[in-house]
Amino acid sequence: MLSEKLLNEMNDQVKYEMFSANYYLAMSAYFMDLDLPGFATFFRVQAQEEQMHAMKFFDFIDEVNGRARIQAMDEPKGDFESIESVIEAALEHEQFVTERIHLLMEIAVEEKNYPAVSFLNWFVDEQVEEEATFQQLMAKIKRVGAKGHILYLLDKEMGARQPE
Ligand code: FEO
Repeated sequence: MLSEKLLNEMNDQVKYEMFSANYYLAMSAYFMDLDLPGFATFFRVQAQEEQMHAMKFFDFIDEVNGRARIQAMDEPKGDFESIESVIEAALEHEQFVTERIHLLMEIAVEEKNYPAVSFLNWFVDEQVEEEATFQQLMAKIKRVGAKGHILYLLDKEMGARQPE
């Protein structure tokens, strides 16, 4: 059972996770346009993960007798200045999602809703991974650059990402 406050916030989270999927798909399209199929694949897989995150919230809401609400979403930004600016945007977005998950956790703890706390624990851990992924990628690109032969190798490496 979810309080009205927690239900509303969880429903907003379904929207934010679906927005994340669209945002990463827009990034994937940007890379397809640049003829960087590896980066495009990486962000496409990331988008699939975000859909899975949205469905986790969707299913949890149902399991605790709530009703998921599908909301309208803004169009994500799809134009970027550089590869670095895409990674920076992804990292900033994940930091925003982390804040959202922490807000949900704070409410769940305050309301002593232990099933929700248990459910949200997975997302707390996941956000550590999500931020680390983009931080490491940013560090790598800053270290080796993203031009010429290095960019070719990096694109190949990015394309190896498989859906989980
Ligand atoms: Fe679902 Fe990347 O946060």
